[in-house]
Amino acid sequence: MSGAQLYDSIGATYTVTRRTEPRIAARIWAALGDARTVLNVGAGTGSYEPPGRDVTAVEPSALMRAQRPAGAAPRVAASAESLPFEDQSFDAAMAVSTVHHWPDPVAGLREMRRVARRVVVFTHDTSEAGWHGRFWLSRDYLPEVAGLLAGRPSVEELARAIGARIEPVPIPWDCADGFFEAYWRRPEAYLDENVRRGVSGWARVGPEAEQRAVRRLRADLDSGRWAERNRDLADLEEAELGLRLLIA
Ligand SMILES: C[S@@+](CC[C@H](N)C(=O)[O-])C[C@H]1O[C@@H](n2cnc3c(N)ncnc32)[C@H](O)[C@@H]1O
Repeated sequence: MSGAQLYDSIGATYTVTRRTEPRIAARIWAALGDARTVLNVGAGTGSYEPPGRDVTAVEPSALMRAQRPAGAAPRVAASAESLPFEDQSFDAAMAVSTVHHWPDPVAGLREMRRVARRVVVFTHDTSEAGWHGRFWLSRDYLPEVAGLLAGRPSVEELARAIGARIEPVPIPWDCADGFFEAYWRRPEAYLDENVRRGVSGWARVGPEAEQRAVRRLRADLDSGRWAERNRDLADLEEAELGLRLLIA
């Protein structure tokens, strides 16, 4: 199933938990510099679109396009790998939490580079051997997530494809955008079906793995085992869980 088809089937409740996290937005908007025209690729429902700029949104899923708020940037039905724009027609192009869905991420990033003078991408570093060991959810409850990323290009390969530099983005403990790692210090959140529905990884591992993970997490929260194992997180304000900004 393509990323667009996936969102046509799971995207109906996206905005219940997914929205702009202001501290991450500040990093993205700073990286956009003084760009006046901005292309948002894999734009979804419009999170992170910078105010006060001339934004165009590219989004292949009809269900996601339909949920963009009234007055949001003009939307174009297209995919990252084939952007229907002239060379260098935007000051900047941005892509947030979407590259991992693209069938050919390197081709998509090169397209962004082709149509824009500056490229800003928010994505994951999955290249380290111990990646999924860093986050307790994938390490202890949902190891299947690592399999979803097998064979995908590393963040270094993505950066190389467009000559980008890579900056780490720590996740605040009270992150407002409910992506997979967002609730690293609020484990009870993952028991909430709405939270899981806002993250494609839960759908992609299938209902059996999802239910097993939820059952085990609930048991460990009740018994105090989760708190015991993750004692080091209790006082952290932010966590380094492999989120990265690519800036070219
Ligand atoms: C997790 S959502 C992120 C949406 C938005 N950028 C945000 O930050 O909320 C991923 C989006 O990528 C879109 N997508 C999937 N495949 C794509 C492709 N090949 N090119 C562009 N967007 C794609 C999906 O339809 C979905 O809207």
